Amino acid sequence: MKQSFFEKFSKAHLPPTRFTRFEYEPEKCTHCKACVDTCPTSCLQWDEEKKEPYATGLDGMEIACIACNNCEAVCPGNCIRMRGEYRVLEGRYKTPEDKYGEMTPPRPFGESDADRDYEAIARDLTETEKVLYERRSIRLYKNKPVPREMLNRIIEAARFAPSAGNGQPEKFLVVTDPEINKEVDRLCAKVLTMIKKLYVGKSRWRKMIVTLLSAISANKWDQRPIAAMEKVNQNNDSITFGAPAVIHVLKDTRGISNPEICSALAAHNMVMAAHSLGLGTCYVGFIASTVPYAPKVKKLLGIKYPYEIVTTICVGYPKMKYDNPIARGRIPVEWIEEK
Ligand SMILES: Cc1cc2nc3c(=O)[nH]c(=O)nc-3n(C[C@H](O)[C@H](O)[C@H](O)COP(=O)(O)O)c2cc1C
Repeated sequence: MKQSFFEKFSKAHLPPTRFTRFEYEPEKCTHCKACVDTCPTSCLQWDEEKKEPYATGLDGMEIACIACNNCEAVCPGNCIRMRGEYRVLEGRYKTPEDKYGEMTPPRPFGESDADRDYEAIARDLTETEKVLYERRSIRLYKNKPVPREMLNRIIEAARFAPSAGNGQPEKFLVVTDPEINKEVDRLCAKVLTMIKKLYVGKSRWRKMIVTLLSAISANKWDQRPIAAMEKVNQNNDSITFGAPAVIHVLKDTRGISNPEICSALAAHNMVMAAHSLGLGTCYVGFIASTVPYAPKVKKLLGIKYPYEIVTTICVGYPKMKYDNPIARGRIPVEWIEEK
């Protein structure tokens, strides 16, 4: 899909969007509120009177949902579904047509899986595949430290990730001091709040500024992270969810080829190892994206040349089990085969 010059400047701020639909069966609800607590955005809120969740929007976003389906994964009563898809209908962020389609659960054996539930499918899966399908981003942690040996074990898994030229350009900064984690959260949340304030609201000048900025740098101005920033604010500016261990993944900026890819692969080895050990993780991009505007964070964490932060991973013991399969959107696949 080639984007014309005019499209680049069109409808980037609060684009016309088809959002996911919230479906809820109240009779099955255990009223545990875990769906609301784990929701990464301000989408799910708790109705104190009815003692049940409801889906809401944010200043122009009809339903502030990123379709991650964590609410469904965590729900012990199996009473929540986010149906449909997230589709931007026009403008700079228009969803490519080959991505259109309802979210579906894992179908590793093709369409025949449509007739089987995940439990039946899982019997035919390898242990590695099960971790791949069942891992969810965990945002609710027990107040229990992760032993150093466990952290070493997952970090060791990263050392054996593939890297361009076997260059291993990554470095890990493991922070288990809750005061430092809180301070980093606080400083980053300050920047995030300013960005959110610039975005929310339908005024003409916001539309102009965001449209202009997205024309220059499309990845930075999507409406979905704005709803996640609102959740950060609602959560006492906690970006790392009070996780007992926070691992910042850095890259050596001089690394071979694309050091960001190598660091990300090493990061994901840690994530997969952690889940295979019963730990929970959640990537946090908000720290890496705000560090350039928050020099105090860089100083506090001692990040110096040649390193730059790529991403952050929260690690801890999940408060409840929610490494579960969920429905996901489509990824377009094209085949070019021998005729
Ligand atoms: C690079 C990256 C950055 C992310 N940043 C955040 C973040 O700042 N806050 C958050 O709650 N989740 C963050 N996530 C988690 C995504 O929201 C999550 O992976 C996605 O919704 C899919 O859900 P799942 O991981 O449970 O499958 C991030 C994920 C990635 C890969």
